[in-house]
Amino acid sequence: MKKNILVIPGDGIGQEVTKWGKAALEKIAELYSHQFSFDEAIMGHVAIEATGDPLPDETLNKAKNSDAILFGAIGHAKYDNDPSAKVRPEQGLLKIRKELGLYANIRPILLFDELLEASSLKPAILKGTDILFFRELTGDVYFGEKTKADDGSYASDLMNYHRYEVERIAVKAFEAARMRSKRLCSVDKANVLETSRLWRDVVQEVSKRYPDVETEHMFIDNAAMQLVKNPRKFDVVLTANLFGDILTDEASQIAGSMGMLASASIGDGTGFFEPIHGSAHDIAGKNIANPLASILSAALMLEISFGLKEEAKVITNAVADTLKTGYRTTDITNTSTAQDYILGTADMGAKVLEAIEAQKPIVQ
Ligand code: IPM
Ligand code: MN
Repeated sequence: MKKNILVIPGDGIGQEVTKWGKAALEKIAELYSHQFSFDEAIMGHVAIEATGDPLPDETLNKAKNSDAILFGAIGHAKYDNDPSAKVRPEQGLLKIRKELGLYANIRPILLFDELLEASSLKPAILKGTDILFFRELTGDVYFGEKTKADDGSYASDLMNYHRYEVERIAVKAFEAARMRSKRLCSVDKANVLETSRLWRDVVQEVSKRYPDVETEHMFIDNAAMQLVKNPRKFDVVLTANLFGDILTDEASQIAGSMGMLASASIGDGTGFFEPIHGSAHDIAGKNIANPLASILSAALMLEISFGLKEEAKVITNAVADTLKTGYRTTDITNTSTAQDYILGTADMGAKVLEAIEAQKPIVQ
């Protein structure tokens, strides 16, 4: 298979972890005789520094012309505490999501048994959890009109949804539910928000087309609580942009660390694959960030954008094998982890490549 992949490392630890997502793709190409060619582009704080624009036209053009995108992370502490900054790194990410029509953000909560002890939650509560989030990504309060009074005394963000925006992500989630355990939970705040009542109305309508899927509706506050009380209760979770952003950070603790979760953003064109974690400037450049979320994002790319299910499984198995051997980055250690098994970013990435290699297929 021949594919053009655009790598956008972005900011902070994005630079060091994306290297390993890319290396996993290169290793797969070598073992399975695929031809993946790579180009690179800038976005976020690094792009503001270089061009003044968090998403330069050149990056957007390359993105539109690629078959899939591997992204790292975005953001810089200097903007976080400067509410007056007009140009912000995150604008680049929001713009590329909108421009590429990436309306469905898929975030699997993949729980490796080896990491049950790494979570702050009790292993008995977590064991067997397998959740697939569908977060709407191009609407909601993220993209509604923003206003701020000149004298700074008032500000507002408009939360809005069109029926078609809810419907298209609902269809994606129901299709996935049909292939899994046939349970879908739609999360909203329909007791208070008009947008949520629209959301619920559309989801109810779509659910009629999927009579084989058991549909449940839950308020966001309750869902946030149930997620840590009894995570096994959930299978496919469908929710809006802001609620999904918050719930998936919470859910990352089920998987042991933010450093473990990969995501796929898809729409009608090029797919975009990235860890759910941020740029983590406090640990950037120290070779301690966990590269597994980037490597697992590469696996999602193979499966979702290229339909290479076997190759994707090889990567996921390699991550599982590496964890089984006992290797850990600092974010997923516990008191019983032996010092020799605590690895930096580069060593962890290299161990996963070895584990990919160890599953070498017989290529005709
Ligand atoms: C995410 C991030 C982004 C979001 C930020 C960086 C704009 O938190 O992908 O979850 O809020 O969507
Ligand atoms: Mn987030």
